[in-house]
Amino acid sequence: MKKMYQKDWFGIPFQSFGKMSSHKLADSEFYSNFYKEFFKNYSSYDDLKEDWKKSKLELAEWIAGRISKGKVLSIGSGLSFMEKVMHENYKSLEVHVQDYASVSLKWIQNVLPKNQIHFVGNKIQIDDFNIVFLSNVDYSIPKETLAEILNDIQNYMHPNSELIIMNTTTIFSDLKLSTIQKTKNIIKYILTILKLYSKGQFWGWQRTPEEYREILSESNLQFIEDGVIYPGGVKHYFIVGEKLKNI
Ligand SMILES: C[S@@+](CC[C@H](N)C(=O)[O-])C[C@H]1O[C@@H](n2cnc3c(N)ncnc32)[C@H](O)[C@@H]1O
Repeated sequence: MKKMYQKDWFGIPFQSFGKMSSHKLADSEFYSNFYKEFFKNYSSYDDLKEDWKKSKLELAEWIAGRISKGKVLSIGSGLSFMEKVMHENYKSLEVHVQDYASVSLKWIQNVLPKNQIHFVGNKIQIDDFNIVFLSNVDYSIPKETLAEILNDIQNYMHPNSELIIMNTTTIFSDLKLSTIQKTKNIIKYILTILKLYSKGQFWGWQRTPEEYREILSESNLQFIEDGVIYPGGVKHYFIVGEKLKNI
């Protein structure tokens, strides 16, 4: 596991809407403030970059390709572009979204029926989702909380349904640092103390495939498969777990 820091997102510097902290993890309040700023700069899905949309479109197609019909829930759906594509292109799928920064769901509210949009705090009343997925979300969740969330999600899942985690943050190489990297880190540390360098906002963690397999097992999910895909040419790690029958 390796900590990640970030200074901007979608071209919006975090300093433009608040103070960055390299110690406090970006939480729902941080994401809500970010999305408020985001919507001042972008007014519809048309404003988003084509290569970003291509990657999300291919990822959506990959997920949709795993079932012929049924209910799909996306946790941490954010702008929900993938979910819009699934809803519009796969009529046999009933697509649901949820994000703890509800302000992020502004655009998808014009696309999905109301009962398919879930706000944190309102209990999801459905217990037969065929696929639940987290796309580029887990990085922001501490390991223990992630295992708790994955355990809880199974209350909403149909027996033998799939839980999919996918992201662009997984690290595949050895976590041991090279001497050059160690030296760079020491220099950054000194510059940080001298207030000459800011690491940026504490954004979350990069994890290894082994850590994801461990999290799945701690969450009582049966490991099905993991691997790498390249939607829109962007490397994504994915791991699929199945809900155990006796849960
Ligand atoms: C990088 S965005 C990814 C959005 C979208 N899934 C995608 O792939 O484009 C991460 C999203 O996860 C949401 N998030 C982070 N932790 C969450 C949690 N514990 N529960 C629900 N949403 C969460 C954030 O608010 C943010 O919108």
